Amino acid sequence: MSILLDGKQCALDIENLLKSQIDLINVANQRLPKLVVILVGTNPASLSYVTNKAKACNRVGFLSEIIQLPEDSTLESVIEEVEKLNHDDQVDGILVQLPLPKGLDAKAVIEAIDPNKDVDGLHSVNVTKLVMNEKGFVPCTAKGVVTLLKTYNIPLQGAHAVVLGRSQLVGRPLAQLLSNENCTVTICHSKTVDMPKHTRMADIVIAAIGRPKMITRDYLSEKTVVVDVGINKVDDKLVGDVDFENVVDLVKAISPVPKGVGPMTIVTLLQNTIDAYHLRNGN
Ligand code: GUN
Repeated sequence: MSILLDGKQCALDIENLLKSQIDLINVANQRLPKLVVILVGTNPASLSYVTNKAKACNRVGFLSEIIQLPEDSTLESVIEEVEKLNHDDQVDGILVQLPLPKGLDAKAVIEAIDPNKDVDGLHSVNVTKLVMNEKGFVPCTAKGVVTLLKTYNIPLQGAHAVVLGRSQLVGRPLAQLLSNENCTVTICHSKTVDMPKHTRMADIVIAAIGRPKMITRDYLSEKTVVVDVGINKVDDKLVGDVDFENVVDLVKAISPVPKGVGPMTIVTLLQNTIDAYHLRNGN
């Protein structure tokens, strides 16, 4: 029987710790941490993600705001909004929900965010810090996966981790973070020859490829710890990149979808926001 890496429970435990930090801030009559999310356009999946982020802020007692900008916003108007938030002393974290509508340069928008408020960890200053193994903001899903592994005492030092996918948002930062944790890291992607050959040798497999149920038992072994980052909608049902039912009786541990990495991403955003708050308060 494999161990279930319960991201929902792990995230709840972290939320409770954050709530007690907020209690202390309230007792001291201090300003509360505030996250602002910018959503450009009306992509329904993005709207649902940003709503979940705002709800999580409410649960732990952070302030939050969603700024909705029209689909046909110009780059200048989005950057102007970001700059207003950079200069707003009440705002600790700024997140621009991706993807942006076609034609808007996401890189230019992200580079406009004050790196000290970049709770998404996507600004080049924070990307460089991650590569240099220095303190900075780390993308939430990547950091959330490592928190989940550490919570379950999965050994990282010396472990062979295979990351499937090399996106800017998940695969690349996760590979770097695991390397910083002294894992030996292999990155597989769409051009990899014989992916199962790599994954079968791994201690840890992290699936972030966006292909529903692609990872079956022929990719894995009884020693594999599997973390499924995939969020795919199939017939109105959420499924991961891993075929859970097919592999669950084989592997050592596995995170489910839903209730796995998803809640970890959100709670990590809260952690990054309170870190930004303390950083800005000089704590
Ligand atoms: N879209 C999907 N996931 C994310 C995320 O972690 N950050 C941002 N900014 N956009 C996303």
